[in-house]
Amino acid sequence: MIETPARTEIGDQAAYAAAVQTAVAASAAYYGEGDSPLDDDAFDRLVRGIAAYEADHPGEVLPDSPTGKVAGGAVAGDVPHTVPMLSLDNVFSAEGLEAWAAGLARRLGREVAAWSVEPKLDGLAISARYSGGRLVRLVTRGDGAAGEDVSHGIGMIAGLPGRLAAPVTVELRGEVLMTHAQFEAANAARTAAGGAAFANPRSAAAGSLRAKDRPYQVEMTFFAYGALPLDGTDDETAARLRELPHSGIMELVAGLGAHTTAATPVPAITAATVERVTERIEEIAALRAGLDFGIDGIVVKADAAADQAEAGISSRAPRWAIAYKLPAVEKITRLLEVEWNVGRTGVIAPRAVLRPVELDGSTVTYATLHNAADIERRGLMIGDHVTVYKAGDVIPRVEAPVVHLRTGGERPIEPPSACPRCGDAIDASQQRWRCVRGRACHAVASVRYAVGRDQLDIEGLGENRIDQLVDAGLITDFADLFFLSHDQVIGLERMGETSTAALLAAIEGAKAKPLNKVFCALGVRGTGRSMSRRIARHFATMDAIRAADDAAFQRVDGVGPERAAILVAEIAELAPLIDKLVAAGVTMTEPGATGPAEAAESGEPAESGESGPETSALPLAGLSVVATGSMSGPLESLSRNQVNELIERAGGKASSSVSARTSLLVAGEKAGSKKAKAEKLGVEIVTPEEFAARVAAFL
Ligand code: IVH
Repeated sequence: MIETPARTEIGDQAAYAAAVQTAVAASAAYYGEGDSPLDDDAFDRLVRGIAAYEADHPGEVLPDSPTGKVAGGAVAGDVPHTVPMLSLDNVFSAEGLEAWAAGLARRLGREVAAWSVEPKLDGLAISARYSGGRLVRLVTRGDGAAGEDVSHGIGMIAGLPGRLAAPVTVELRGEVLMTHAQFEAANAARTAAGGAAFANPRSAAAGSLRAKDRPYQVEMTFFAYGALPLDGTDDETAARLRELPHSGIMELVAGLGAHTTAATPVPAITAATVERVTERIEEIAALRAGLDFGIDGIVVKADAAADQAEAGISSRAPRWAIAYKLPAVEKITRLLEVEWNVGRTGVIAPRAVLRPVELDGSTVTYATLHNAADIERRGLMIGDHVTVYKAGDVIPRVEAPVVHLRTGGERPIEPPSACPRCGDAIDASQQRWRCVRGRACHAVASVRYAVGRDQLDIEGLGENRIDQLVDAGLITDFADLFFLSHDQVIGLERMGETSTAALLAAIEGAKAKPLNKVFCALGVRGTGRSMSRRIARHFATMDAIRAADDAAFQRVDGVGPERAAILVAEIAELAPLIDKLVAAGVTMTEPGATGPAEAAESGEPAESGESGPETSALPLAGLSVVATGSMSGPLESLSRNQVNELIERAGGKASSSVSARTSLLVAGEKAGSKKAKAEKLGVEIVTPEEFAARVAAFL
């Protein structure tokens, strides 16, 4: 579980005064333009340090201090709120939550009737006033008592309808944020218009909401988390808003047509016990990385209206609700350098080298940058402070530069003018740059991949050996391996009679590998082991694969139009290599597969990718299966790829991610977010041992 968070150490009064000043400035920027120089974690540490100092030196508390104030006391507006817009107090661990819940029960003199548990959305609070069902005013939180009128934002916010489903007068409260896609689109539009990128979705939402007269359109998303009566609210609605539990109010709000968390993978739930609340917190935390919007915690609320009314509020926060904070998934660090690496297909991809930063339990030193156009679009420079995002299994990514922290010492990122590996020209006609020599540029990497365990599995061909073969001009691709002579191999450094014979035998043995392995060895962009198996089973022969057009590829499960187009182009490009493999006598068929024509005749849907009429009798026929965590029992020694092969032998479809279409999850020890997602979706979950028993005949 999450421990008590760190805080900035403040030793004396001068340090305290400086800390207060820094926090006030950062808070003003955060709630204002959204351009705080501190990331959330650094800000929270600072405020906790200030609070600790004040607890020890109550006589020295400065009037400006951000502690105990809504929005750190940083901002105000001129539109008074009907009812103050409050903050939330925080807890950081299950123990903290239990202590808070126990305190609330003591205050009420009874157990809390029920809890509502919902994500804490990482955006900014907004009040949306509806009159007779029409959206008439949008106001920011401001200092909690009064906020700024941002009604010009009406129409830019998805989920906040201009008209409700009924002509009621009501105030909706909720969070405005940008989804990751909206953030990318907003930054693209902003930088294209000559503006500086927003550092993260939260500041993008804050900045966009406050800006009037933008030359470009940006979209945001609203999530309601409360509703209040206004002057003019009809008696029946007012009574319902007073009497319904929070969960009932949220149903009412959703029924009126406003967006709530109900439609997301992390809907609000009600829980009868604190144990269930804690469980739900863990479920939401596990799903966080896969969400398309940011959450920074989980809000736990006493659900019943009577419990809320009796608990009341403190100066800045309700006593009936608490925010359970999750660790930061976004931090600010420095972009030290950009490396341009050539992959095995000759693609030249940029990678950000960062000043190492701790994020979600690991140290992040590198982050993906997609291509040169992407760097340009983000307006990144070497030396920039950048926001970096990483959660769960997600590959760390640079979100944007923090432009207002520039010192003038930053320098432009120079994309290479020649291939950084071989010096030949770059084909920059596509967004994804490639060396004109394609796969030949990094032959060592593509041969290494082809002979790997999950492809042709040729032992005795390590990186050095492949290097020697390439350097000696004996091979330019992996098909050349099949034409090596005894004399050529024994002529290599440190090769004796025995090792030569062993290597040649291993190469000879690879000729008998089934089509799926041979196809996988080609290293076609957009295909890995699982997709290669599906393609080989679907088409059954290399000839059929080579004859396939876009439409034919799209009949393979998991192949959409984009991937189909890449497949056709790649297979055309690989024709000389495939010809060489055919000439060498490498297997070009998939055992047991009959190809698309027969599958159609047997009445099997072609999309199923199944290999023959008998497949429906197999134990996993028609099931989409995901394996996660470490395998045990009879499956202990199997690699993940071998487990996937087993799934497919038994008639199932192996997949790496859990979705609504998943039929079965094999969850071993240390299964993480996939298990949580499967539980949430109601997917059947079995242990590796149970699964092994089901497919025993195929082990
Ligand atoms: S309830 C009176 N529910 O968190 C209770 N707030 O740190 C206060 N927030 O100002 C609001 N998700 O902007 C509530 N599900 C949620 C929320 C949520 C995000 C924000 C809100 C609030 C801030 C407090």
